Amino acid sequence: MATTTTPKLTSRIAFILLATGSAVGLGNIWKFPYITGEYGGGAFVLVYLACIALIGVPVMMAEIMLGREGRQSPIHTMRHLAKSQGATNRWQIVGWMGVIAGFLILSFYSVIAGWAFAYIPEAVSGNLNGLDKTTSGALFSELTTSPWTLLFWHSLFMLLTATVVARGVRNGLEKLVRILMPALAGLLILLVGYAMASGKFMQGLDYLFNVNFQAVFYTCQAETCNFTPEPLLAALGHAFFTLSLGMGAIMIYGAYMPQQTSIASATLIIALADTVIALLAGMAIFPLVFANDLTPGAGPGLVFVTLPIAFGNMPGGQFFGSLFFILLLIAAWSSAISLVEPAVAWLTERWQWCRLRATLLVTGLAWVLGIGSVLSFNQWSGAEYQWFGKTFFDLKDYLASNILLPLGGLLIALFTAWSAQRRFSEQGLALTRGFALWWFLIRYLAPLGIALIFLHAIGLV
Ligand code: TRP
Repeated sequence: MATTTTPKLTSRIAFILLATGSAVGLGNIWKFPYITGEYGGGAFVLVYLACIALIGVPVMMAEIMLGREGRQSPIHTMRHLAKSQGATNRWQIVGWMGVIAGFLILSFYSVIAGWAFAYIPEAVSGNLNGLDKTTSGALFSELTTSPWTLLFWHSLFMLLTATVVARGVRNGLEKLVRILMPALAGLLILLVGYAMASGKFMQGLDYLFNVNFQAVFYTCQAETCNFTPEPLLAALGHAFFTLSLGMGAIMIYGAYMPQQTSIASATLIIALADTVIALLAGMAIFPLVFANDLTPGAGPGLVFVTLPIAFGNMPGGQFFGSLFFILLLIAAWSSAISLVEPAVAWLTERWQWCRLRATLLVTGLAWVLGIGSVLSFNQWSGAEYQWFGKTFFDLKDYLASNILLPLGGLLIALFTAWSAQRRFSEQGLALTRGFALWWFLIRYLAPLGIALIFLHAIGLV
């Protein structure tokens, strides 16, 4: 097991950029609005925000700390830390689950990133100009019903991801991300401005922030209403997804983090940036949904149908639209590399593979699995290709986001706060204040919260 090869990032800011690059991605701009729409708005958003603050932030601190203490791939880190804390080496299961979740996520993430890719030439060539509800919908379904087109963009995105990962962490995306994040935020603000001017802005805000538990958590038939725990699990799962938690991605970045950097302040910056970008995306999209008579629950296509209408009708839209899809692509790119990194790091440590070979194997496998996601939108969209009422695409997302990630987070919390000594975290986090609060959250609130939501979802409580 080679520990000496673990690369280190040069600075605090490099770590923050890399981790923010991982966190901010399709999860914020594509997934957050579309699942908020599917689950019915404000109450879902509130639960999601609570999950970020009360579970996501403490778990992120723990995950980064474990990585930094272990300084290896998540699988080896967990094994090494378990040993040094006198715990069973079964804790390495956290690392293994992470590798599996990474494959599952990348294999659909890449296809959606391919959509963003495909929209760049459309925007650049002016094909979005003057789009309305009908023509925008037609453009989108033209893309998704063509397996070869999807496969092409999916392959290109995977290649892009592989290129950066193969070159290593330090020479990879660091510099790009530095310019990208502010630009993306700026563009989103512009879109919110557009939505204010020409969308049903108040209705959009109301949808996002007006908390109506009844509408989100209860299904009513005639006089009787039943509580549905599904949105709760989805909000928790999305909190993990959007922060890149629970699968070792943030752990491996922690392994590359400088020793003196404060984990707490880095975590707060990352979580805040991630949340702000998601909310901005929501504020840009929902006013347009209502202004154009689209349905919030339209599914994965929501953003790709809505935003082109905005670009197609605003002054300078051809330019801004092109820029937006380029930025979205880069945001997805900087996220995708973190999905691959844990598995690649493990292969290079365990088998002394070179990065190129490891990268090719991992992205190659995810690419093959991704063909199933491509077909979920066309050839395999029918009921005969669905399990539990979900397409292959939905199923992978559900399994990874709603089950594997929260479970990974639960195990991380349990290991840190119940299996390892308290002193281990005191030294690892080196907090000047707030340790007791964090300890309470990671030892009691986070594990209990995750466990309860799980048990609820399978109908046990
Ligand atoms: N957080 C990213 C997004 O919101 C996706 C992502 C990257 C991710 N790495 C991850 C999700 C690790 C879960 C685990 O787009």
